[in-house]
Amino acid sequence: MRVVSSLLAAVLATVAFSAVAADGKDPLEARKAVFKEYKKVFGQGMGAVMKGEKPYNKDEFAALAAQMVDLSKQPWQYFPAGSDKGKTESRPEVWTKPAEFKKAADEHQVLIAKLADAAKGGDLAQIRPAFGAAQKTCKACHEVFKND
Ligand code: HEC
Repeated sequence: MRVVSSLLAAVLATVAFSAVAADGKDPLEARKAVFKEYKKVFGQGMGAVMKGEKPYNKDEFAALAAQMVDLSKQPWQYFPAGSDKGKTESRPEVWTKPAEFKKAADEHQVLIAKLADAAKGGDLAQIRPAFGAAQKTCKACHEVFKND
């Protein structure tokens, strides 16, 4: 019994010292999972259409864009202080320059929302530049805040 309770105490201490997101998830795993969805929806879904690798379908494309609006709100809650350890590609700047990081995340969300508006319109002449502008916000943030 004493062994069990000291084991339990050790486990609790570990939990207390590792970062946990507001919803109780492991933040590193949670943000990686969201970015994996980014890759599917933005890259393999919308990006492939933009490159002409997949045919353009107005409703499908608009649905992917709407999904991106949802996704674009999610990663940022999963960067709490202390979650800079482990198998992360985040640079320390995420935590040392939180205002800049938030600004990059905010701009990203604005341009993803604009892309979703363009996607609803169904005019590729509007969608292409909106996609390009949204994609730039990925790169702008990664350049400063993510290791390759
Ligand atoms: C405000 C900053 C920011 C924006 C905007 C952003 N990312 Fe990221 N992204 C990150 C950070 C930081 C990581 C590293 C997460 C970790 O490992 O801790 C990351 C990781 C990723 C990963 C997983 C690692 C990899 O290289 O496979 C993918 C995929 C990704 N981002 C795609 C995107 C795409 C696509 C967009 C735009 C639609 C985007 N990101 C926008 C900051 C951002």
